[in-house]
Formats: sequence, structure tokens, C-alpha cells
Amino acid sequence: MFSLFLPGDFAMQSDCDYKEPFHVAIIMDGNGRWATRRGLPRTAGHSAGVATVRRLIEAIPAMGVSTLTLFAFSSDNWRRPADEVGALMVLLRTYLRSEARRFIENDMRLSVIGRRDRLPAGLVRQIEEVEHATASGRRLHVRVALDYSSRDAILQAAVQLGSVDKPSREHFGKLVSKAREGDAASPEVDLLIRTGGEKRLSDFLLWESAYAELWFSEKMWPDFGTEDLQASIAEFRRRDRRFGGLSNVA
Ligand code: FPP
Repeated sequence: MFSLFLPGDFAMQSDCDYKEPFHVAIIMDGNGRWATRRGLPRTAGHSAGVATVRRLIEAIPAMGVSTLTLFAFSSDNWRRPADEVGALMVLLRTYLRSEARRFIENDMRLSVIGRRDRLPAGLVRQIEEVEHATASGRRLHVRVALDYSSRDAILQAAVQLGSVDKPSREHFGKLVSKAREGDAASPEVDLLIRTGGEKRLSDFLLWESAYAELWFSEKMWPDFGTEDLQASIAEFRRRDRRFGGLSNVA
């Protein structure tokens, strides 16, 4: 990307020169270890993780991001002890209830992707309320992945596809979105971030991340700050995205 650079404009330049709105997806890992290292119960790590979510959502629209997808609970997380799962469900419900007004005031939309049939009824009601109340938000679309498995979404899409003559990526991608995200199309992921020091995708947005740029942080999720997000986005902007073609720079 080429743009006129004036010395005093550095902060502006690094924050705002990516013209296309883009999609950031985050695997928020490390809550449990963050808490354990402090002698706290794992659930304290999840509560601290919610505070990180709040801080980042406040800062992220100014960074040019139009869609943010957060992996809050995977379909494999049901294997965790019942008290941790229960605490996470309560935390998520409380978050959705308390944030609705902030989302509306800031012209932001909140929706949930993933299965709903195994979630507590009260949480499902809260999801529906927030989705309805924030549906017209345009400044940022925050998608929370709950009871989400990308492989299940792909499998379901394959079943839906059946035996069509000429399957296309576009059509199949729509079926993948539909499988776990209602009717809304799931945009391609531009930047995929994982905190907590692990370097894996853990069944998150596998189809949508075919050409995602990957960024791994050693920080535990509660310690991940807006400056870390900014650093990942600055690096993302510097990367030469070729999509299998040839470099723009060359
Ligand atoms: C992974 O850390 C984190 C989760 C399974 C839950 C993520 C949930 C939140 C941050 C809270 C709520 C989210 C929203 C959108 C309000 P881990 O427990 O696997 O950590 P560990 O690897 O250190 O054990």
C-alpha cells in the first residue's frame, strides 16, 4: 500500500491507513493459566477475560475493523468440569445483558454463531434479545462463537450441498455460514489472533480462514491489551497478502 507520509502523522498513519474494513477473529486463550498463576480459581480468569473483551471492543472500531469474531466457547469445551461450564454460561449471559445498551449507543451489532440447542434456555433468550436490539448497528459487528465447531459447520454444509452438478466455493461457503450462523454470510477472516502461547486453530473458522493472516501472542488473554491488538494490526497491514498470486510489491 502506498500513501503520502508526513513525519507528524505517524500515529494516524499506523492506525488508520488500511482503507478496506476488515475482519479480525480471536481465540481468547489463557484465562485459566492467568488465574492459576495468581492462586485464583479458573473462573476468575474468565471474569478478567470479559474485562479484556470490553476494553478491546471500545478501541477496535478506530482501528478499521468492521467485524470481530470472538471464540468464547467451543463445542469441545463441554468436556470441561460442569462448574466451570456453568460459570462460563452465567458470565456470558451477564455480559450480553449488561452490554446491550452500550452496543446500541455505539451503533454496534452483536450476534452469536454456533449451536443453540444445547445452551441454557435463559442464555438463548438473552442472545435473541441482544441480537434483536442491536440488529441495525453498523459501526462494528461483534460475533461471539458459542458451542461452535467449524468442522461441524462444514459437515452440515456438505450434507446440505448433496450431490449438485457443479459445486462452487461461493455456494458452499454460504452453506457453511448458514449451518452455524443463521442466514448471515460469514465474512472471510483477514487476521486471526490467538493468545496464550499456543499455536493452533482449535476448530475455529477453518473455511473462512483459508487466507487469514495469523498472529500468535504469548500473553494470556486477560493481559492482552489494546496496544497488543494495535501491534497485530500494524503487522497485518505490513504483510504482503498474495492469495496465491504474485506480490503487489514486486
Ligand atoms: C480459553 O481459556 C477461554 C475460554 C474457553 C473462554 C473464553 C471466554 C471469555 C474470555 C469470557 C467471555 C467472552 C465474551 C465474548 C464476553 P482457557 O480457559 O482455555 O485458558 P487455559 O488455556 O489457560 O486453561
